[in-house]
Amino acid sequence: MKINELIKKALDAKQNAYVPYSNFHVGAAVLMEDDSVYTGCNIESASYSPTNCAERTAIFKAISEGKRNIKAIVIVGDSGFTYPCGVCRQVIREFGKEAKIIIAKSEDEYLEYTLDELLPHSFGPEDLEKKNK
Ligand code: THU
Repeated sequence: MKINELIKKALDAKQNAYVPYSNFHVGAAVLMEDDSVYTGCNIESASYSPTNCAERTAIFKAISEGKRNIKAIVIVGDSGFTYPCGVCRQVIREFGKEAKIIIAKSEDEYLEYTLDELLPHSFGPEDLEKKNK
């Protein structure tokens, strides 16, 4: 799938954002290893802390359908370039250490990062495997 197509899917998903408290709409689309695509939006709560970011909505949809490895993730927000929060960076670390992270404003205006750039010196699954070795 081309990057602009993945961005279009994230932009479409952004329209479903449930954001009565922040009014800040975010959409995401993940491209998995098998080329399947899952989309997500942010979902807020009157109790605030249960809020789920668009990225995690998309990733958790993919994982719960049995997919595991993220090839690319697109994030689109309401204003300028919207970068993933720290929690989402850690979730991307779990399933997409080598993923392309695409921060988009529109279908043809985007920036591309590696996870290492956004979450340097990260802690991940391999660190637990090293225990007692
Ligand atoms: N949000 C996301 O969905 N993804 C991000 O990358 C940044 C923040 C959401 C959470 C909340 O619903 C709103 O944006 C304002 O923080």
